[in-house]
Amino acid sequence: MTLSLGKPPARVDILRGIDLDVVAGESVALLGPSGSGKSSLMAVLAGLERPSGGTVTVAGLDFATLSEDGLAVARRGRIGIVLQAFHLLPTMTALENVAVPLELAGEPDAFARAATELAAVGLADRTGHYPTQLSGGEQQRVAIARALVARPALVFADEPTGNLDTATGVTIMDMLFARHAASGATLFVITHDPALAARCARVIELADGRIVADRRAA
Ligand SMILES: Nc1ncnc2c1ncn2[C@@H]1O[C@H](COP(=O)(O)OP(=O)(O)OP(=O)(O)O)[C@@H](O)[C@H]1O
Ligand SMILES: [Mg+2]
Repeated sequence: MTLSLGKPPARVDILRGIDLDVVAGESVALLGPSGSGKSSLMAVLAGLERPSGGTVTVAGLDFATLSEDGLAVARRGRIGIVLQAFHLLPTMTALENVAVPLELAGEPDAFARAATELAAVGLADRTGHYPTQLSGGEQQRVAIARALVARPALVFADEPTGNLDTATGVTIMDMLFARHAASGATLFVITHDPALAARCARVIELADGRIVADRRAA
């Protein structure tokens, strides 16, 4: 699979000949220098960006051939994303933020399930708080609850602890791995931290848009 972005003559080859098979339920760390293509690979695997060449098959769907709308529908309920900057909706409470994916999917019990998911990340007593009333670590826990509430088969976390202090970051990763173990979802974690990567069953290293290492834990 390849990804090139921008219009000529400024067109950039970002991913070059990526060949990757991931088993459902696996935890995968994506490591690599800044600019190596980690976030771009995540964008393609998560159906946010269509590949320029090749195929991307997720849960039996060919992402390369879907329209923008088709991709949006494919993502819904299948894919959860946690980003470095938490990206919560500022005018919504923690509970409302977490309920959004379920409401988009037309689930009737969105708020009850959102409350359960918030409790699972230890925020049962913060459901009515707005993002500005929460600490960074709490905001990231809300973002994790939002990413997981629809029980997606694939979860992506792009430097989820990048904006947090070390201790809070460890708590957040403990939470993410615990929720991953409970859900059976496939988890991709993008990180610069080798210790964090080592917690994943598989570590894939990118350099200059290519996979240069692919190891499984013994
Ligand atoms: N829309 C775009 N148009 C052109 N080039 C882009 C675009 N998006 C990303 N790039 C380039 O693609 C390369 C890979 O970017 P990407 O964000 O995937 O790297 P990364 O490995 O996630 O880096 P970091 O660790 O800094 O987050 C970079 O050189 C970047 O400048
Ligand atoms: Mg990145």
